[in-house]
Amino acid sequence: MAPQPKISPSMLSSDFACLADEAKRMVGCGADCLHMDIMDGHFVPNLTMGHPVIKSLRKHTDAFLDCHMMVSNPEQWVEEFAKAGASMYCFHYEATSDPGALIDKIKASGMKAGLAIKPKTAVEVVFPFAEKLDQVLVMTVEPGFGGQKFMHDCIPKVRTLRSKYPNLDIQVDGGVGPDNIDLATEAGANVIVAGTSVFGAPEPREAIRVLRESVLVNVTNK
Ligand code: DX5
Ligand code: ZN
Repeated sequence: MAPQPKISPSMLSSDFACLADEAKRMVGCGADCLHMDIMDGHFVPNLTMGHPVIKSLRKHTDAFLDCHMMVSNPEQWVEEFAKAGASMYCFHYEATSDPGALIDKIKASGMKAGLAIKPKTAVEVVFPFAEKLDQVLVMTVEPGFGGQKFMHDCIPKVRTLRSKYPNLDIQVDGGVGPDNIDLATEAGANVIVAGTSVFGAPEPREAIRVLRESVLVNVTNK
């Protein structure tokens, strides 16, 4: 089946004091998944949330929780996130010495497995693992903060992955919005993370619709 659009608002841009309501609001606006940015202050120079927050949120929504693990030693948290109700555990290639074993561990826990690469990491590192991954995340900013500028030079990595893996879920994350979405989808991205551009839009529902339409036109129905 052709890759389907999955629009995943980054909850990093939400009001954390009302996380459950914000999650429901995004689902109501058409979000397919919710992107949860997990930062440990070590792999990236910022701190956000851990599995206790996922566990609390899970009581309020059955949405797909797409956890982007910007943490050192990602092996450490697999069981805790699975127990907390995470749906996807997307770790960074740069944070582990044995991606294959970690993918197996994630899958054995019942979660989907994703592999993320930073802007300076070559796309080729993904190839040995692509067949057993549920998603590859191509970062389009340096991980750590919302609201950064989209890095165009990461897009050829998306194109390479799409030509090699026609059915793979390919996610882009960082600075993505209605103004540049076509660059990402024309290269083949179908899973779209957007924080600032969705939460900051006058009509988040409309922003999500534009992102979805771009995937449908350029990827799904191409
Ligand atoms: C950055 C995070 C992103 C970020 C995206 O490290 O991985 O998910 O929240 O936010 P925007 O869309 O504002 O760049
Ligand atoms: Zn992210």
